Parts: sequence; structure tokens; C-alpha cells
Amino acid sequence: MEFSFPHYLLSKQSVDDRALNRTVLDSLKANLPAAPIRIIEIGAGIGTMLVRLLRWDVITKADYVLVDEMGENIESAKEWIPLWAGESGLTVERIAENQLRAFDRARDVRIHFERGDVFDFIQKKPAPADLLIAHAFLDLLPMPESMPKLLALTKDLAWLTINFDGVTSLEPAIDAALDEQIERLYHETMDARPTGGDSRAGRHLFDHLRMAGASVLSAGASDWVVHSVDGKYPADEAYFLYFILHFFEESLTGNAELNAADFASWLNERRAQIERGEMVYIAHQMDFLARV
Ligand SMILES: C[S@@+](CC[C@H](N)C(=O)[O-])C[C@H]1O[C@@H](n2cnc3c(N)ncnc32)[C@H](O)[C@@H]1O
Repeated sequence: MEFSFPHYLLSKQSVDDRALNRTVLDSLKANLPAAPIRIIEIGAGIGTMLVRLLRWDVITKADYVLVDEMGENIESAKEWIPLWAGESGLTVERIAENQLRAFDRARDVRIHFERGDVFDFIQKKPAPADLLIAHAFLDLLPMPESMPKLLALTKDLAWLTINFDGVTSLEPAIDAALDEQIERLYHETMDARPTGGDSRAGRHLFDHLRMAGASVLSAGASDWVVHSVDGKYPADEAYFLYFILHFFEESLTGNAELNAADFASWLNERRAQIERGEMVYIAHQMDFLARV
């Protein structure tokens, strides 16, 4: 199987659609300023959140800046967003190399693509947004020191979603002790990344936000729950699951605490469970809406 990160982000859409906390989303809708609004999304990947907000009629008129450090993601975003917009009846104009406009009678969004590290982007002192979005991103950053820098990107709201929070569960069990060991070691790799990261990022955000002077308007769980229906995973979620196992394999291969042969056969059995539509994957995560 070929592992493409942009493809993983596409396959994650339907999982995130179900997971996003609706109480926090309602709070976002209730607090959004009048359109047009300026949005900055950091760690934006290929732009699936922008598309979701249009699909869900959360935004109509906006200036939307997408920041991501991976060139492959930004290139995919530049191709995929116009494709989606065209199929959804929006007219697309390319304004400049890194700027698009997608519009119809009701909607008008200017999209700016920024390839680069979020902290370099902050150094450029961009005009602050009405809304900062970080989706499946903050659990990768060094905290608490990043929070005040990130919040400087908004003059009002921050919607911080899909922050991993300490629980991974794969069912059915293969070997309870080995399952537990692999899950524990996997979380430890998140805490040991040299670029930052926290396997309990969700719960810690309450403190990080408070210390950075922001108030939490709403918070709640946004767990990924992936299972088959009549033996088939919805949408492209089988690919999503194979990619999650790929993350396990990348993070834990060579781990001194793990027997290599046991881990290889565990991965094979998990893959076979996906093929049979048996594997259930749950990851506990949290969403926040904060005001600076
Ligand atoms: C888990 S992905 C989530 C992408 C997107 N938010 C989504 O959910 O589809 C994390 C993203 O953060 C980006 N990223 C990681 N570190 C970054 C940094 N320091 N500056 C900018 N982007 C970064 C990665 O390239 C990746 O696209």
C-alpha cells in the first residue's frame, strides 16, 4: 500500500465530521462576528476544514489564510480546493500564485496559501484574524510556550479542535498485555518528539489557554470512533485505519522495549482485522472555543 499524507487527510474528513464536538461548534456559530470574517488556519493540511465550514454553512464570506509547512499539502490544497469548489457549483478564480477566490451568489471566500513553519509566519506579523483555527495540530507543538505566540494571530476567537487526549483503543484485543504495551509506548513517542507534542494535550489546554490570557467559552470531547457497518468501513475510512497503523509502525519500529517479532505479527493481525471489517479504533480528543 502506498502511504500518502494528503490522501490520509482526505480519508480523515468523514471521521472528523462525526467527531467534531457539536456544542463547541454551536458556540462558535453563536460567537462568530458578522461576515466578512478573517480566518487564519494553522497546520491546515490540504484545506479540509475550509471545505467543511463551507459545506456546513458555517462561513459564507471570508478571507481565509491556510498555513502549513509541508509543500505536498499546500500543493494538494491548491489543486483539491478548486476541484471541490467547481463540483459544488462555486466559481473559482486564481487571483495570484498563492491566492484563489471561490464564490457564488451566497458565498465568497478568498483563500491565501502560506507554505511554511507557523512560527516563521507569526514573525511576519500578519494582520490578526477574527478566528484562529488549529485542527489536529496543537498536540504536535511545544507547550505552553507556543500558546501566546499562536494566540497573537487572533484578535477575538480561537477554535482549537481534535486535540489528542491520552486514550487510544483498538478492538478486538489481540493480546491484552501486548495491546496495552503498544498503546502506552505509542503515547510515549508523542511526548518524546524533539519538535514538541503532548499525548494529553486536550486536558492541558485549559491551563495553557488560561495562562496565555484566553478564556474558554466552550469545551468538549471530539473522539474519533471508527467502525465498519455491515463489514464495510464508510467512505475512505479503511485507508484512514491503515494509515493509523502506519503511524504505529513508523513510531515504534526499533523501540528497545518492544519485541520486534511480536510487534510485526501484531501489525499483521491488526491489518487482517481491518480487511475483515473487524477493527474498531477509538481516540479520545478534545475541542475548545476560546476568546483572547
Ligand atoms: C495532523 S496534520 C492535520 C492537518 C489538518 N489540520 C487536517 O486535520 O486535515 C498536522 C499538520 O500540521 C502541519 N505542521 C506540523 N508542524 C507545523 C509547523 N511547525 N508549522 C506549520 N505546519 C505544521 C503538518 O504539515 C500537517 O499538515
